[in-house]
Amino acid sequence: MPTRRRFLAATAATAAAATFAPTRHVTGQPAPVRIGILLPYTGTYASLGESITDGLKLRLAEAGETVAGRPLEFIQLDSEAAPPKAPQNTRRLVQREQVDILVGPVHSGVALAMAKVLQGQTRPLMIIPNAGANQITRDWCAPNIFRSSFSNWQTSWPCGKIIADDGHKTMIAITWKYAAGEQHATAASDHFESLGGRVVEQIYVPFPDVEFQAHLSEIAAREPDAVFSFFSGGGAVKFVRDYAAAGLKDRIPLYGNGFLTDEGVLPAQGDAAAGIRTSMHWAATLDNPANVRFKPAFSKATGRPANVFAVQGYDTGTMIVRALEAVDGDTDAMDDMIRALEAAEFADSPRGTWRMSAAHNPIQDFYAREVRGGENVILGVSAAALNDPATGCTLV
Ligand code: BEZ
Repeated sequence: MPTRRRFLAATAATAAAATFAPTRHVTGQPAPVRIGILLPYTGTYASLGESITDGLKLRLAEAGETVAGRPLEFIQLDSEAAPPKAPQNTRRLVQREQVDILVGPVHSGVALAMAKVLQGQTRPLMIIPNAGANQITRDWCAPNIFRSSFSNWQTSWPCGKIIADDGHKTMIAITWKYAAGEQHATAASDHFESLGGRVVEQIYVPFPDVEFQAHLSEIAAREPDAVFSFFSGGGAVKFVRDYAAAGLKDRIPLYGNGFLTDEGVLPAQGDAAAGIRTSMHWAATLDNPANVRFKPAFSKATGRPANVFAVQGYDTGTMIVRALEAVDGDTDAMDDMIRALEAAEFADSPRGTWRMSAAHNPIQDFYAREVRGGENVILGVSAAALNDPATGCTLV
């Protein structure tokens, strides 16, 4: 069984050892494309960062030893999902390491801090493989910043309708207190209320705390019809288990965006996750040729089952390949890389075909899912080809 360490080492070695024909930019040995990666490898989001990195490197390894004639070099930093550390880490990758492409982050607060550092700059090309901060593809949008994942609004807005369609009239939202939590809770609540529901309370837990007991007692006392939640990684495991242990699972149905029951956390949640309904742009049970190919390839490379973060990393790799191929590896041709990504249709993604919006955010299908027998069973499409409103984005 390949270990993650062995897989990452193997892909890094492939990139470093590659030799090939010169490109038109450089005589002799082509310089590597420098890819800076700023993702969490410690803390509650560590498993997300690892999955994204593994998905990314799997896709780039599939592309071969070089992309558009150039080897790839990775400069990888631990973001620790800590916004205060993001400006320094970003400057290190952009100014000192002079990366051509910047991949990251997971955490919305880190994304906002990174975008501030890049403000007004035309390089590098930044691809966000997770963080859903709405502003990034709304009023903060920028020509060289793309997202391969979602906006927070996109993942949670469909869930408000799933809850209302199940006949619930009142709901409590519970989440972490930071940009992503607030945006997820607001999106689900707005949609629920627009359909006649009433949000009786929004409960915010400091990030990344996992002490839920007092909040669960409060939910039990207020007895809403349903609960919406956004937690991810280690926090999602703990919340789902605590919710069941508090005796709420069979009394007040639990909903969320799909991060709550992501395939990476489902095994640790066990029976506690059964029956939870979520909205998400991927599920392991999604039956399309790219997903059928991707899941065993990811498991073979890492020894772990695929999850949505791995998919987003994989699609980030596809974006890098498309951008480099469009310019024959000439990373100075930024405008052409941008145009190629804006025009691309990603028909070979494990999530199904998606395309890039004018604001640089995926336009993609969202599914209603329910946990049954330890997997996310797809109940239907909850929002087809959903585009973020992109409010205030000057690219639109
Ligand atoms: C975020 O901070 O944007 C985020 C983190 C984990 C999962 C989804 C979104």
